[in-house]
Amino acid sequence: MRRSLQRSNEHFRQASAAMPMGVSSNFRYWGDDKTLYADHGKGARLWDIDGNEYIDYRLGYGPAILGYADPRVDEAAIEGMKVGGVFALSTELEYDVASRISRMVPAAEMVRFSNSGTEAVMAALRLAKAFTRKDSHIIVEGGYHGIFDSVLWYADIEEWDESKGGQPNVEVESHGVPQILKKLTHFTPLNDADYLEDLLKRHHHEIGAFLVEPIMGNCCSIQATREYMQAARMLCEKYHVIMIVDEVKTGFRVARGGVQELLGIKADLCTFAKAMGNGYPISAVAGRKDIMMQVANGVSHGGTYTCHSVSLAAANRCLQILDETPALENIAKYGNDLRDGMSKVLRDRGIRHCFTGHGSMSGLFFNAEAPTNYRDWLNSDYTFYDTMAPKLHDLGILCEPDSREPWFVCEAHEQSCLTQTVAAFESAVDETLEELKDTDRAKATA
Ligand SMILES: Cc1ncc(COP(=O)(O)O)c(C=O)c1O
Repeated sequence: MRRSLQRSNEHFRQASAAMPMGVSSNFRYWGDDKTLYADHGKGARLWDIDGNEYIDYRLGYGPAILGYADPRVDEAAIEGMKVGGVFALSTELEYDVASRISRMVPAAEMVRFSNSGTEAVMAALRLAKAFTRKDSHIIVEGGYHGIFDSVLWYADIEEWDESKGGQPNVEVESHGVPQILKKLTHFTPLNDADYLEDLLKRHHHEIGAFLVEPIMGNCCSIQATREYMQAARMLCEKYHVIMIVDEVKTGFRVARGGVQELLGIKADLCTFAKAMGNGYPISAVAGRKDIMMQVANGVSHGGTYTCHSVSLAAANRCLQILDETPALENIAKYGNDLRDGMSKVLRDRGIRHCFTGHGSMSGLFFNAEAPTNYRDWLNSDYTFYDTMAPKLHDLGILCEPDSREPWFVCEAHEQSCLTQTVAAFESAVDETLEELKDTDRAKATA
């Protein structure tokens, strides 16, 4: 490692005594001598406590859509601070923000706010199950929907031997999740409408919700096709299952109307979080009036900190910018230019690759063809990515070490970031080729 992480490492030892693993989220722990502590961020750049500067493509897993410490949003947040916080009462501004969301996302006939993506998805699942009076749900293999018991399950593709027949086992992500919930969770591979139909034929009487993230933001940005989403839409109607489109990452990022606009679909319920408030904690569940109105008919929804005046003011301003300025077009353009720059480096070296998802949240994939579901991802060679990512960190480019997490772009990424990133990428690719020359190079190249 070329950077010094001395201060981060020292802090890790100190922090580990007070906080398990020295962090406040398991995903922030990267190893005893690799865990970074942020000092501050500005625009598209982040500085760690050792003073290392990075161009950041993690952006807190997506929230900083305009860039860190965006003055427009921060000024609004400061005004929001003067309002007074939370009152156990609603404020007028909630209506304004909800109305804007409804204008931007046609499926969002009604809106309720929460603080995190997890809370929004929890609410959506509860609403769907209350509405259908059916207790189970379907998750797409490889999908991530937050840190609560109903979704902390995964289809164990890695241990699955397709040649032996059968389907991947369903396993729990976390100790402490009651095993009894397993029977409420079904899995389906993305982009396989026949599989979904078969599942629904057999279990529709118990399945109340189909939970899908059509650009899989925790799975290499693998994308659903329009045809698949349309088929899934019809199947949900046929079997009286609520389609929940989880837009926690894609919402207000891939288009003003989110992935639903991009793919021409309309969810029954949808969830939003990350890009809503440029990092201030706020989320929303939204959807069909008849389903949302279940909250007036016995479905619990709420929370002490829901619509804190700071977050709400930030969301109001952030959504206004995303709605009324070309921010999203600029973000997509940067993302596409970045793909072009990286592609040239890889093409010049004969390295097979492709990009998945949308320019604003790209998955980089070392294969000639994009994966269509998580099963495909597993069959690809991701050693190249895994070897390259820490080299990029050393060169001042902060991408997620796990290849499943996409590269997020914000409005503050500009030409100097692009030039610097492509140059660093070229060096990292060459160093990776050198390191893998006797091992995986053959697999990684054409
Ligand atoms: C698609 C999706 N849904 C839900 C969540 C949970 O959001 P949060 O971490 O804000 O609870 C995430 C988080 O990454 C996500 O990507």
